[in-house]
Amino acid sequence: MTNSIQNIQQCCGNDALEEFVRQQISECGGIPFSAFMQHCLYHPQYGYYMHSRSRIGSQGDFFTSSSVHRLFGVLISRQLKQMWQLLGSTDFTVVEQGAGEGHLAVDILDTLLADEPEFYQSLRYCIVEISPDNRQRQAETLSAHKERVEWCCFAELNAINGCFLSNELIDAFAVAVVEKHDTRLHEVFIVEKDGVLCEELRSPIRAEIQQHFDDLGVEPVEGNRAEVCLESVQWMTAVSQKLERGFVLTIDYGYPAAELYAPFRRQGTLMCYHQHVANDNPYQNIGCQDITAHVDFTLLQQSGENSGLATLYFAEQYRFLIGLGFVEEIVRFEQQEQDEKKALALRMTLKNLILPDGGMGEVFKVLIQGKGVGTPQLACSRSLRDIPIEAFSGL
Ligand SMILES: C[S@@+](CC[C@H](N)C(=O)[O-])C[C@H]1O[C@@H](n2cnc3c(N)ncnc32)[C@H](O)[C@@H]1O
Repeated sequence: MTNSIQNIQQCCGNDALEEFVRQQISECGGIPFSAFMQHCLYHPQYGYYMHSRSRIGSQGDFFTSSSVHRLFGVLISRQLKQMWQLLGSTDFTVVEQGAGEGHLAVDILDTLLADEPEFYQSLRYCIVEISPDNRQRQAETLSAHKERVEWCCFAELNAINGCFLSNELIDAFAVAVVEKHDTRLHEVFIVEKDGVLCEELRSPIRAEIQQHFDDLGVEPVEGNRAEVCLESVQWMTAVSQKLERGFVLTIDYGYPAAELYAPFRRQGTLMCYHQHVANDNPYQNIGCQDITAHVDFTLLQQSGENSGLATLYFAEQYRFLIGLGFVEEIVRFEQQEQDEKKALALRMTLKNLILPDGGMGEVFKVLIQGKGVGTPQLACSRSLRDIPIEAFSGL
């Protein structure tokens, strides 16, 4: 049933991709938003992530924690080292999926080579990356670590002993969009009316989306819009199947389901990024802007638990980084800086990683799951109380 139609503003973008989308719409009589987003981001030729373009950093569209400063990777390498020890300090594989330009990988590998040579020698660093352009950028960034790094196809991974690692992967998965009206959920489809792309609300929603809300026991309230990432469930299940023994370390922005679908979040969390300007219009700059939605961490935990992964840790990024030595390291980095202005600038940059408002500290979360590892006390779970008071001097 068609419930409402809303005209969508068209702006500059990739004409060939838009033509492809229109063709799909015409052939299928409309496509779900998730298919539209999938084409925009991952069309093999024209998708945002697939063609050659600077996406991350000051020349791109957005920053990620690993592009802010190498301290992010330095601290993650400490957590990986403890995981390696927990698995018996033997051959260890890190599978990093969605490695962007390779910043996190190079910071981890540089740190381990310098500080943990034994772990470095036991390490196989396997990158799973959908974007040919990013694979090329990663190869350049990681040229000094050729012996340790390989690029793998997810389907070919087998019996991993180690850690599945990702930073801002899940927020880049395509999502379905729903709205609740007249007490019923409707799914957003994209159709064409008089040559203009339009949103159309269709009800009933697909059975798997309804099942998703039933399983969670949470639903958007009347009038609200929300996203559902079914791909994250498939991903979590597939990761668990590939992991023989070890950990899954997932970092991303998002909330537990009750907070994600809270009544005050009227318009959901879908956002687009183009040259560092955020907007909420996925129908402009088609193929030339990032489209993203916040991650449902309850869904990740539940689907992990359903497929054999125990939840070992879930907290905000600031707690995770502080637990791993952020405060001590920020002071050490500053002390190495001779110029006072540069030291201050460095402190401001680094604080971005833990600041709650406008920074990456609170909305970013860290989930660690385990298989066959018991319930270890993870290094990142060190509490603020245990940080020596001297470490805070100068902050
Ligand atoms: C937002 S970027 C995150 C980049 C990086 N992790 C960082 O910290 O800078 C998302 C990355 O995930 C990749 N990606 C998206 N879907 C993927 C998939 N199904 N498999 C592998 N890589 C994927 C994109 O190409 C991109 O490299």
